[in-house]
Amino acid sequence: MKLFIDDAHLDAIKRLLAVYPIDGVTTNPSILAKVGGNPVEVLHAIRAAIGNDRLLFVQAVPTDAEGMLRDARAIVRAFGKNTVVKIPSIPAGFQAIRALRDEGIHTCGTVVYTPLQAYLAAKAGADYVAPYVNRIDNMGYDGVAVVKEIQDILTKNDLLAEVLAASFKNSQQVLTLCAYGIGSATAAPAVIDAFVKNPAIDAAVADFVRDFAQVGHGKSMADLLV
Ligand code: G3P
Repeated sequence: MKLFIDDAHLDAIKRLLAVYPIDGVTTNPSILAKVGGNPVEVLHAIRAAIGNDRLLFVQAVPTDAEGMLRDARAIVRAFGKNTVVKIPSIPAGFQAIRALRDEGIHTCGTVVYTPLQAYLAAKAGADYVAPYVNRIDNMGYDGVAVVKEIQDILTKNDLLAEVLAASFKNSQQVLTLCAYGIGSATAAPAVIDAFVKNPAIDAAVADFVRDFAQVGHGKSMADLLV
């Protein structure tokens, strides 16, 4: 499963990139609004931080197909070939996704709340479909189950789109979908940090340091091996 950061704060992105094996960054208009400032400058700074090889997801803002196409072409021109344009999975979006596929522009059908939205986006030619796990939970449905159903639909219909599950609120949701074999997940920094946030882990590491101090007298292996 590929793992993306669902955030646009540069400090958080740089911190996570330094320690975790991260495949890229996903953004949307609301995420960019949370950072403030000029969204183009923010996105250029993110591209510089993640390098040209990692994926950057940027959403088209208009809700009509022509406007989505204009945004998509401009986004890829500005942020490079490893940029995926997020297109809302609405009728105009399916139209735009089809046209962009023909132009060789990579897309992600986003704002996915239902399996049939994902089916249509994938069939239109989206490279990714992005169901919103926690938002589906908040509507009274089972977000993780919906994502599993979408994965099954893609597999059983030989649709090539990859699931990019989004809107996670806890690491258990990510774990369940990782075990199920979805292609990608994107999560906020706090959720990614929670993958390894466990008092038992911290205690085990502290025990090793304390135990070795008895024989190493506070020195590391490198210190002792000089
Ligand atoms: O891009 C979709 C994702 O960011 C939505 O997450 O936390 O706003 O539900 P959230």
